[in-house]
Amino acid sequence: MDKILIEGGKRLSGAIPVSGAKNSALTLLPCALLTDEPLTLRNLPRLADIDGFQHLMNQFGISTTIAGSRPEDFGRVMTLEATRITSSVAPYELVRKMRASILVLGPMLARMGEATVSLPGGCAIGNRPIDLHLKALEALGAHIELAAGYVRAIAPDSGLPGGRYSFPVVSVGATENALMAAVLATGKSTLHNAAREPEIVDLCNLLVAMGANIEGIGTSELVVHGVSRLHGATYKVMPDRIEAGSYACAAAITGGEVTLMGARFDEMEATVQVLRSAGVIVEQVAGGLHVATDGPLRPLTISTAPYPGFATDMQAQLMALLCKAQGSSVLTETIFENRYMHVPELNRMGAHIETSGRTAIVHGVEKLTGAEVMATDLRASMSLVIAGLAAEGQTQVHRLYHLDRGYERLEEKLALMGAQVERVGGD
Ligand code: UD1
Repeated sequence: MDKILIEGGKRLSGAIPVSGAKNSALTLLPCALLTDEPLTLRNLPRLADIDGFQHLMNQFGISTTIAGSRPEDFGRVMTLEATRITSSVAPYELVRKMRASILVLGPMLARMGEATVSLPGGCAIGNRPIDLHLKALEALGAHIELAAGYVRAIAPDSGLPGGRYSFPVVSVGATENALMAAVLATGKSTLHNAAREPEIVDLCNLLVAMGANIEGIGTSELVVHGVSRLHGATYKVMPDRIEAGSYACAAAITGGEVTLMGARFDEMEATVQVLRSAGVIVEQVAGGLHVATDGPLRPLTISTAPYPGFATDMQAQLMALLCKAQGSSVLTETIFENRYMHVPELNRMGAHIETSGRTAIVHGVEKLTGAEVMATDLRASMSLVIAGLAAEGQTQVHRLYHLDRGYERLEEKLALMGAQVERVGGD
């Protein structure tokens, strides 16, 4: 297993491209199930999770081809062609490695009239149930059966009729699954309290490009008028706002100045406001965001929330940054119940963080020191990288596969900004 070695204390500077959004890509890929025509996705990030999803699509009999990407390029182009689907089962060995596999349930059901997906089970950042995915599909007319660790969704012979569902809590994945099922329903569907994340807007935009009829895009009330068939499309994945926010934190903690090419200000407003409140200068420039620092970092009191609130996927990276603020910050995690696994590791690097339930108090420290650390999820791992960039001495972040799930060519991008980083094998 690879690890990353970071010699801390280098001020980051320069410009890097922001990759295509992982979380968007993971919901755009299953849209290939909705049509027998080719779907071409551009700007797909090169990530382990995308490879995993490609594998899952191949398992259904879908052909995937990758074109026009040289090894030195960021991103790639994939064409998926689901002319014939030979299996509607997502097996345990693939789903357990990648929770987002559950996103095939809605589109497979819509296209084939049935779908069987292994239950994803728990994951490192909490219990993460799928009850809302299933309730939303039931409301659209599906019959759901659970047996032997699998969920089977079946549509009536005449197809899903569509229906009305009000989400009791905002769920990104359940909104995506319901949308992908509703677009081919025979009637109208209304989703209340739907997630409004930019990745949902990206999904809606692709579905519309494929011929879907969706009203209320970008709002919490989505109305879908089912159509009898969708056609192929060529679509560019949106930029990754979480990757961009992570590098903004990395630049800020080193007192650096970087330009994040392709980052979109309007999709990152909460992150931008939070960074500005902490004393980081963030400005919209032609083609991206410019991040700089001027003076000490200020402490903050902040809670995570569904979009347009501050994203839970930025909590760990912000926490690393606030370790160097002058004073104590209070962070509250409202989305996932077990998302502070980076705290003991940051404390091993000299941070002073106390947690109590969903709240973490981050007492700013003068200095962080390099250490051997490991984290159990993607964003937590990135927080350790960010801390390592500002720490005295060497930091070794183990279990690099977490970072490979979500940060395209991490060490190359950090090196482009002047960080001293190296990927080495074996731990
Ligand atoms: C997606 C993102 C993830 C992000 C999260 C919240 C992807 C691939 N992943 O995850 O990076 O952290 O949104 O922004 O896009 N819940 C239920 N029942 C359900 C579904 C969810 O109780 O059926 C709860 C969850 O436990 C959690 C909350 O709803 O407390 C929000 O989860 P959700 O928005 O569904 O997250 P994901 O779609 O899994």
